Amino acid sequence: MRAPLIAGNWKMNGSSSLVETFGEVLRGAELPRGVDVALMVPFPYLAAARARFPQDVVVGAQTLSDQGAGAFTGDVGGAMLKDLDVGMVLVGHSERRTLFGEDDAAVLARVKAALDVGLTPVLCLGETLEERDAERTEAVVLGQLEAVLDALAPSDRERLVLAYEPVWAIGTGRTASPEQAQQVHAAIRARLVRYAAGLGEAMKVLYGGSMKPDNAAQLLAQPDIDGGLIGGASLKVDDFLAICQSAG
Ligand code: PGA
Repeated sequence: MRAPLIAGNWKMNGSSSLVETFGEVLRGAELPRGVDVALMVPFPYLAAARARFPQDVVVGAQTLSDQGAGAFTGDVGGAMLKDLDVGMVLVGHSERRTLFGEDDAAVLARVKAALDVGLTPVLCLGETLEERDAERTEAVVLGQLEAVLDALAPSDRERLVLAYEPVWAIGTGRTASPEQAQQVHAAIRARLVRYAAGLGEAMKVLYGGSMKPDNAAQLLAQPDIDGGLIGGASLKVDDFLAICQSAG
């Protein structure tokens, strides 16, 4: 069965002292058994996070270059992330798609760059409010999914984690209802099964978008929701831990 994964995404937030606080609290806390936990922190804090966080907490990055190495000023390559013992990397977060112009081709290139060095890409998918209102949710989300999966070998497809994040729920305090989220997760799972039955069974599909301690349990109870990608609430260690507990 799919072990739940609770992944925090600090976005462009945090500080050395927040890394220290999380390290101290997480080392003293009892994380629920059978729940995978990850924290995606900004590049400058990856090394400190790896040193301070308990070993069973995966340290992740929020993006990576589509290039291996070389004259790409300001970019960070997957091999560098591996070198810091980073285990996961977000790819195609809606903020990258909209604010940084990453289209499906750019997302695919980054997924491949992550796979090339043995990082687990967490591929984010989601529709805008306009697209939902136009009843295009599944077309958009499945289109984003296929743009990546169609281009990967079957053995590489199995190495991804997915995160469904309705754009209208990110950072807005407006969460998809458990039923709305489950409906899209079930559509994603059905599409995975078309690639391979085992893929549908094995692949984790997280929900993201204003997940908080008070709504996490209901969302996580849905049959096709395998965890959460948590933005705002992952900056407060008590809230983050409470969400981890509700996945246990
Ligand atoms: P949020 O962010 O929890 O603050 O809505 C989720 C995300 O963008 O991953």
